[in-house]
Amino acid sequence: MESMTFVLFGATGDLAKRKIFPALYNLFSDDKLPPVYSVVGIGRKEFTDVEFKTFIEQSLQTFSRRKPEDNSKLESFLRTFRYCRLDVTEKEGYQSLLKKIQEREQEFGIPENRMFYLSVAPEFFDVIALNIKESGLGATKGWKRLIIEKPFGHDLKSAQDLNNKLSQAFEENEIYRIDHYLGKPMVQNLEALGFANPVLRTLWNNQHIANVQITASETVGVEERASYYDHAGAIRDMVQNHMLQMLMMTAMHLPKQITAQDIRHEKRKVMESLRPLQKADVGNHVVRGQYGPGKINDYTVIGYREEPGVDVSSMTDTFVAARLWIDDPSWEGVPFYIRTGKRMREKSTRIVIEFKNTVKDLYIAQNESPVPNLLIIQVNPHEGVSLQLNRKNPLKSGHIEPVTVDFTSNTKDVPEAYELLLFDAVRGDSTFFAHWKEVELSWKWVQPVLEAFEENLLPLHQYPAGSDGPEASRQLLEEDGFQWWLDK
Ligand code: BG6
Repeated sequence: MESMTFVLFGATGDLAKRKIFPALYNLFSDDKLPPVYSVVGIGRKEFTDVEFKTFIEQSLQTFSRRKPEDNSKLESFLRTFRYCRLDVTEKEGYQSLLKKIQEREQEFGIPENRMFYLSVAPEFFDVIALNIKESGLGATKGWKRLIIEKPFGHDLKSAQDLNNKLSQAFEENEIYRIDHYLGKPMVQNLEALGFANPVLRTLWNNQHIANVQITASETVGVEERASYYDHAGAIRDMVQNHMLQMLMMTAMHLPKQITAQDIRHEKRKVMESLRPLQKADVGNHVVRGQYGPGKINDYTVIGYREEPGVDVSSMTDTFVAARLWIDDPSWEGVPFYIRTGKRMREKSTRIVIEFKNTVKDLYIAQNESPVPNLLIIQVNPHEGVSLQLNRKNPLKSGHIEPVTVDFTSNTKDVPEAYELLLFDAVRGDSTFFAHWKEVELSWKWVQPVLEAFEENLLPLHQYPAGSDGPEASRQLLEEDGFQWWLDK
């Protein structure tokens, strides 16, 4: 791994504190950082280097899965960390930043490999990228990389505008777009599960699969993010990125090689085959909902419109379910259902593959009805894979009943998404980052849905907090003779 400088914009912010510093520390503990690295944290606060290091130490004590055991280890981790106060909109400041970085590079003999992580509000993405270019920070003799995280735009047009600006300063292969769902170990595992197991691979098509259900339900509400969320809704917050990424990872075909390029090529093909929705037809395939008051784990919670900062007549979607079709011969006739919502019954991200139940009538004479086989991939908060099979229960006079075989291995101390993603970015492996084409095609699919929501072309169903979402979401599957598995 090559030595490098990690330039973190937004170093005193929430994401840095909760995720980025802990991820760096855990990588350091596992010897997964280059032998020599320098970190320059940038923020608006007045911090000395010592105060900055104290801030990082507190972040590790509170949020890291491993706590620094002794001072000497912490000291060697933080040895090259420096802080630089900068107003990111002021060009002049970038010159002193460049100087600081160059001094460190010379002091530690680090080649000009620079990784810029923009952990800042999205309106600064293009400003910073262009300033990096104009100040000469980006004119390195080594490599340069840019890491950014959603939202990438607010709709198709703004996403394209943003990308045009970013691409003036960075090449596509230098931009690492984080979708933290792609960093989740079980989402990364989808690749191995589907590709490294010929048994499953053989079944991965419309001959054997009846439907695919991707759920990301949360128990939390809007929290303190109303000013963002009330303009975004679940469609932008979760569907355009995380849900469609999980769909791509589930539906993609075997790539020629397991390389970033081939995998991203296959993902892109999924998006290109996704049947577009016409605005007028959105109501037939998409359900939107908003949580009302209710109870979660015996706690009474308020409805979305009562949440602080939310407009009392807000029409923002906190729940979206949709039926999608992939127009490619091996997925013809297989609906992909996605759904995501806040203030639902449980926190669960999972992918359920329902296999065709071709033996349903075989046991009619015995008055038995075998259930479909299900492959259940639990992504979050627990990770695991299980398979629902039918068997005779000797304790119940040999009645046929489903049994779930669990292949979950011990998942204690699994690296977090940011650890895996940062490690990949440091190594220059972009497999689990979103390519611009994936992002753009996702916005293209979502755009008519945004417009239909905006024009209120479909109802906004209320659902009680603590439920599995609106009744209409159940009906969406019922229309096709299916049901959401694992609901109560
Ligand atoms: C974020 C969304 O991207 O993902 C949040 O902005 C959401 O609204 C979060 O709560 C869910 O992530 P996770 O990892 O908890 O499933």
